[in-house]
Amino acid sequence: MFRFLRDHGIIERNLILMGVLTLITVSIGGLVQIVPLFTMETTIERVEGVRPYTPLELTGRDIYVREGCYTCHSQMVRPFRDEAERYGNYSLAAESMYDHPFQWGSKRTGPDLARLGGKYSDDWHAAHLRSPRAVVPESVMPPYAFLDRPLDTGSIAARMKAQQALGTPYTDEMIANAAADLEAQARPDADAAGFSGRYARARQGSFDGNAKEVTEMDALVAYLQMLGTLVQFRDVTTDQVRQQ
Ligand code: HEC
Repeated sequence: MFRFLRDHGIIERNLILMGVLTLITVSIGGLVQIVPLFTMETTIERVEGVRPYTPLELTGRDIYVREGCYTCHSQMVRPFRDEAERYGNYSLAAESMYDHPFQWGSKRTGPDLARLGGKYSDDWHAAHLRSPRAVVPESVMPPYAFLDRPLDTGSIAARMKAQQALGTPYTDEMIANAAADLEAQARPDADAAGFSGRYARARQGSFDGNAKEVTEMDALVAYLQMLGTLVQFRDVTTDQVRQQ
């Protein structure tokens, strides 16, 4: 009856046989975990309110990546009580579903920025980016005053097409209107009817305090001000939040 216990000795004394059988066992375990994921359309549960970035925000995000802000700032509130009390609701997977590449990060020389939107005024952001120590005397963040230069808007449609190729649902209409939408968001007096229809909960503004010219500062501040503002947590059912 316990013959297999005796035969087990054969495996234990044969290193190659043991290796092969271990590999087979581990592979079965791996397949059981991984294969079901292929059959799901998406592993991210969609949450009301999450939309692709507006052209201005997308350009701002590219500047954020270009300047390496992620080397000091994370964008993911971990599901721990101390984090939630400091930053707000922990991050949902859906909130970064249109981030290519994602900006979760693991380094926090400065605070997490996932829920930054609306925490400060546009003026505060512009002043802080130009000279962090003018606003926060003990800051070790480098100054980015050079961002007050004109924004290169020529590549916006191409940037959106690249995002589209990666799965962000930009429509052809959004891409056709990219440059106009970018301008409309950065000029508070521009007619924004079309723009607002295409991008829900997007705010128009003169983000750097100068409405005459669209600068890199405008784009970056517009991006920072929308971080974490798309999902209204009172609208999300507790069930959806619990499943994340
Ligand atoms: C060398 C590290 C470093 C880099 C690089 C850096 N920061 Fe910071 N950042 C900090 C530190 C430290 C603080 C906290 C002190 C302060 O508020 O200035 C901070 C604070 C901030 C805040 C205020 C956050 C809050 O909740 O109070 C914002 C916004 C911000 N950084 C944006 C940026 C952006 C945008 C970039 C890239 C253009 C950037 N940072 C690059 C270190 C950095």
